[in-house]
Amino acid sequence: MAIRKIQTGSAPCLYKKAKPVTAFDGKLHSLLDDMAETMYDADGVGLAAPQVGILRRVIVIDCTEDRNGLIEAVNPEIIETSGEQGGYEGCLSFPDEQGYVIRPNVAVMRAFDRNGNEFEIRGEGLLARAMLHECDHLDGKVYKRLVIPAPEEDKAE
Ligand code: NI
Repeated sequence: MAIRKIQTGSAPCLYKKAKPVTAFDGKLHSLLDDMAETMYDADGVGLAAPQVGILRRVIVIDCTEDRNGLIEAVNPEIIETSGEQGGYEGCLSFPDEQGYVIRPNVAVMRAFDRNGNEFEIRGEGLLARAMLHECDHLDGKVYKRLVIPAPEEDKAE
């Protein structure tokens, strides 16, 4: 395992559409291992492959406080959303920044694990936000395009 360099700001790979994974092989497993290590090292809740310069549809997420709830998703798709949540969001590619973003409160994601087995996961709140944020990265979209002024009651201190 190795920590990979996180691309930031105007790096072109952050704004390109990533290609589907076709081989569930050792190279994919190394990428997933490295992405998890890189995410934990940076203390993030999610990371998408384009953020480490790899234009493939691969994400990792861990929204748990004790950092033992790793989700690996290959070729993920958001198949259902509902509700609405507003909150501050950040991104490892834009360190020390955050912005207020409205997202669905619930999201259902269909994806493949590292061995090519399909699964579905339903997320609410932070997990839904993370799944939507990371899937956006795979289409070259960063959260900053969604930032709106925070409503008065949610203003940051
Ligand atoms: Ni991000």
